Amino acid sequence: MMPHGLGLLSKAVRRAAACALGFALLSPLMAQPAAQPAAQPAPTAAPPSNHQMASASIERRVDALLRKMTLEEKLGQLVQYNDDGFKDEAKPVDVESAPQMAANPTAATQVDAMQLAATGRLGSMLNTVGAARTAAFQRAAVEKSRLHIPLLFGADVIHGYRTIYPQPLGLAASFDPALVEKVAHLSASEAVTAGVRWFYSPMVDISRDARWGRTVEGAGEDPYLGAAMARAYIRGYQQGDLSKPDSVAASVKHFAAYGAAEAGREYNTTDMSESRLRQVYLPPYKAAVEEGAASIMSAFNSLNGVPSSANPYLLTQVLRREWGFNGPVVSDYTSIMELRNHGIARDAAEASRKALLAGVDIDMMSHYYDTELAGLVRSGKVPMSAIDEAVRRVLRLKFALGLFEHPYPVEKEVTAAVDAHRPLVRLAAEESLVLLQNRALNGGAPLLPLPRTAKTIALIGPLADDSANMVGSWAGGGRQKEVVTVKDALEARAVRNGGRLLYEQGTEISGEKEDGFEAALKAAQQADVVVLALGEAGEMSGEAGSRSNLDLPGNQEKLLEAVAATGKPVVLVVFSGRPLVLASAAAKVPAILAAWFPGTEAGAAIANVLFGDVAPSGKLPVSFPRVVGQEPLYYAQFPTGRPTGSVDLAHPGTDVDSHFVSRYIDTFNDALFPFGHGLSYTTFAYTNVAVSRAELKLAQARLSRGKPHGPALVVASATVTNTGAVEATEVVQCYVRNLGASLEQPVRSLQGFTRVTLKPGESRRVEFPLTYSELAFYDNRGNQVIEATDYTVWIGGSSTAKEHANFSIHP
Ligand code: BGC
Repeated sequence: MMPHGLGLLSKAVRRAAACALGFALLSPLMAQPAAQPAAQPAPTAAPPSNHQMASASIERRVDALLRKMTLEEKLGQLVQYNDDGFKDEAKPVDVESAPQMAANPTAATQVDAMQLAATGRLGSMLNTVGAARTAAFQRAAVEKSRLHIPLLFGADVIHGYRTIYPQPLGLAASFDPALVEKVAHLSASEAVTAGVRWFYSPMVDISRDARWGRTVEGAGEDPYLGAAMARAYIRGYQQGDLSKPDSVAASVKHFAAYGAAEAGREYNTTDMSESRLRQVYLPPYKAAVEEGAASIMSAFNSLNGVPSSANPYLLTQVLRREWGFNGPVVSDYTSIMELRNHGIARDAAEASRKALLAGVDIDMMSHYYDTELAGLVRSGKVPMSAIDEAVRRVLRLKFALGLFEHPYPVEKEVTAAVDAHRPLVRLAAEESLVLLQNRALNGGAPLLPLPRTAKTIALIGPLADDSANMVGSWAGGGRQKEVVTVKDALEARAVRNGGRLLYEQGTEISGEKEDGFEAALKAAQQADVVVLALGEAGEMSGEAGSRSNLDLPGNQEKLLEAVAATGKPVVLVVFSGRPLVLASAAAKVPAILAAWFPGTEAGAAIANVLFGDVAPSGKLPVSFPRVVGQEPLYYAQFPTGRPTGSVDLAHPGTDVDSHFVSRYIDTFNDALFPFGHGLSYTTFAYTNVAVSRAELKLAQARLSRGKPHGPALVVASATVTNTGAVEATEVVQCYVRNLGASLEQPVRSLQGFTRVTLKPGESRRVEFPLTYSELAFYDNRGNQVIEATDYTVWIGGSSTAKEHANFSIHP
């Protein structure tokens, strides 16, 4: 397992210190009013986003219950705690088998959650899992409390409960929403047996800065891909029917724009134009809401000066009025308390009032709603109607989940990785792997796939036999001993191929000691081929995992150099929760496979790809920089007024035209490995890129405004051919640019993708319907608009696709 215990302790201490310091430092700012959101278009009342929670029968039950509730009982539904301090003497927690759900600080004040549950003063719990443990609290709520309202158990099941699949960034590299839906459902089916019916997932924050550790929790830099992934998680978790016993309610997080944290520093400020917010950061949340997401989690960050957990513009105007979201909003962990650190609340009462009135229904761990709201209602500072509305949202969800009828899990508890689930999580891991580089050796064939004739393989590196780190951060209830490591899998291969594996750790992930180098080099020298397993530890990404360097940690780069210097063919398998700077590695080794953190079946999936049983098909959901100073780095940049144009950045001239352009004087502008990039064991050719029409009228385009799945205005198409020797899957990508709009537009942006499996020599015509949403952009008043502009469409295998076609929209 990951060393959660240690992390927990130090984070708790740090968080407490930060709070205390924050209050002292921020006091002079506290009198200043929070910035107000800019003027926005008139609120539109959209229909309820989740039809189940909007049903008349649920509404009747909510009304009936609400009428019976005292103020204290109502507030109870808005309160969420974990079970810290709870000791079930009859069933002591076995630390090895207890799911380690979150590395979070404990709340400032301890409460007795069991007693609150028994007296109707607790609505939900976080990261309290396990059939016996949840049942103990549920019994208190259902059997002892006056109104018998069941608790809802929420947990950070991010990429699997017991059988762990790749982290969301790795899954995004599959560009396979159907697969994501399946694994998401798989984790739900396991977790419900432990009493959990609510996941704090998916995290749909767009991340364009690899320094931000939480990049690993989302689908990367692109809103179109992010939206597709967001929908897939919701479908997998909720199955379109929350009442099914194996459905869980999703909590889409962290609303909103948390991923734009300045300088990639965790919990930091975000500040951006309305157009960028709507066009880049909000689409995945909007897609999740359209798919019926049951709940939302408000974020830690402030947006344009207003903390997200007290932001009426985000939580009421956009989320509820414009999108019709009708589920509950839960705060992030102590984020209501943190409104004081942000400096927009002087005390707990002010923080509670601002959060509730902005639209935060449930207080996760701040210990504020339970202590403050009653007084605020009595003094008239918070209307009872606002409390009632928040309570309604919570109760609707509980009714929709069928918790009143079935408060306890029905299936036998899943307490270990499930064998029957391994093939699917292995497939997910295989699809997540991205072959970044695969150079030919001495003019021969590319190094990968490894030939079965490679009899002696040296496996070197700190992640080669590291079961703990294969599951990355937020590892749910995954157990270390159930993970297949790279060493496990390659050893089995070696035996099967009649060869041998020489394993050496070489160094530690972060250490500087070189004691292991000699043995590692000796192993390399004896081998036909070397597999280097290097990268980050799981906890170097995820929450509070921001880095200012993006290189291989410790002395791993040095080990790589020494191994490469032996002259043996080297494959680098790199594990990370973010893009790393691999420029120097890429110059020294012929083949690089980005593995992210693949989960329970890590080694098996990697071996299958290394030996060519499976041709890699993953594509990068994030750009890999050449140097950290390029961050934030993303393909969909604006052109600027001084684009580099035809300047050769490898040999820029000294003339004015080469110098005064938007560039660095010490590196390239582009990524080392760009978004959408990923090689296979075959090659694909793109021909006959075409559009169904060369022009259309603006009035006709505008007819489908506001229809998310409206008719195709233009259909873009291309022929894709497998020009190599093996069957493989290609992620075909469609990018769009428009010229002449009233606002600057990205140089290109993804507006379609599909996976196509082709036999050698086989061709297929692939079509991308471009509807209003794919062709429109957001203006700075929050409107999605189409203007009379000229479009270019590229279809290809990465964001650098060359084949294109054009069309125009005329006034
Ligand atoms: C994280 C959330 C998580 C919550 C509950 C917070 O610190 O930001 O992503 O869901 O804790 O564990």
